[in-house]
Amino acid sequence: MKIFVTGATGYIGGSIATRLLAEGYEVLGLARSDAAAESLRQRGITPVAGTLNDYGLLKQVARTVDGVVNAAQADNPFVVLPFLEEFRGSGKVFIQTSGSSVVSTYDKGEFVDRVFTEDTPFTPMPEKATRVAIDEQVLRAALDGIRSVVIRPSLIYGRGIGVNSSSVQIPKLIEQAKKTGVARHIGRGLNVWSHVHITDVVDLYLLALQRAPAGSLFYVENGEASMKTAVEAISRMLGLGGSTAEWPIEEAVEFLGPGAHLTFGSNSRVKADKARKVLGWEPKGPSLLHEIEHGTYKEIYGP
Ligand SMILES: NC(=O)c1ccc[n+]([C@@H]2O[C@H](COP(=O)([O-])OP(=O)(O)OC[C@H]3O[C@@H](n4cnc5c(N)ncnc54)[C@H](OP(=O)(O)O)[C@@H]3O)[C@@H](O)[C@H]2O)c1
Repeated sequence: MKIFVTGATGYIGGSIATRLLAEGYEVLGLARSDAAAESLRQRGITPVAGTLNDYGLLKQVARTVDGVVNAAQADNPFVVLPFLEEFRGSGKVFIQTSGSSVVSTYDKGEFVDRVFTEDTPFTPMPEKATRVAIDEQVLRAALDGIRSVVIRPSLIYGRGIGVNSSSVQIPKLIEQAKKTGVARHIGRGLNVWSHVHITDVVDLYLLALQRAPAGSLFYVENGEASMKTAVEAISRMLGLGGSTAEWPIEEAVEFLGPGAHLTFGSNSRVKADKARKVLGWEPKGPSLLHEIEHGTYKEIYGP
């Protein structure tokens, strides 16, 4: 089976592409530079030179493959269009990568007792409205004879599989702590994010590719932690004794950009019971706190 992966040089798409190759799939990957094309070639992935906005090119690719995993930019409305048009009536699989940040709110480090399943209605914050609209467009494509699937991973952690990249969230908190010598969380850090190990994310994509019903949406998580708990683990890992400090949102935004509100300052709590039940997904990767204190992050950033 021939699968086209966008984002095959990145963390999620690259890890998925590696796993698909190992499972015997033929994998094509989008490459927007010569260096990216060469790195894909070396991994056994056939490069397709272009960008997410190359409508004609992507339509052409769609005609030659059995399925597509879009794991590049969850907020780009143009990349889904060529596939949804070309796949119409074909029963081919199209997987859109979204994210659980669609349910996040501006909480400035305070806890909010709200947990979302695929059936929980919500109104996204303005910067996530496009992402939700794209997700809905993809889900509706099931009515046009496409096996369309939307996957919303929570905070992903762990080392990329076969790619030299990692998720941005935990490394940013570690870099801040290393730079200032103080491990910090926005406000009181009582806000909670669901999270999931990259190996489990990749397992779920494979199962979705093989057996997700048309028009299905899945949240992805295997646990949750408050930012304070995660930052305490970072502090211990860096030899700072587990002590943490509050980070005023204004300063955090200066360091991290306005996205800090919906990432490090927000709650994003979801349940992935549906993936366990419908896909038979059984996550088994190491926990976030283990990866910080004793695993990937200690190896990369530890003293
Ligand atoms: N990481 C998480 O915890 C997480 C969780 C939920 C959702 N998401 C979402 O999932 C998506 C992928 O995340 P990631 O962590 O894998 O990001 P990443 O490591 O930065 O990878 C992004 C990939 O997309 C490619 N790309 C970006 N813009 C492109 C363009 N205009 N044309 C062609 N390729 C382009 C990049 O190519 P280059 O190598 O050329 O830059 C790279 O391969 C993002 O939208 C992110 O918001 C991430």
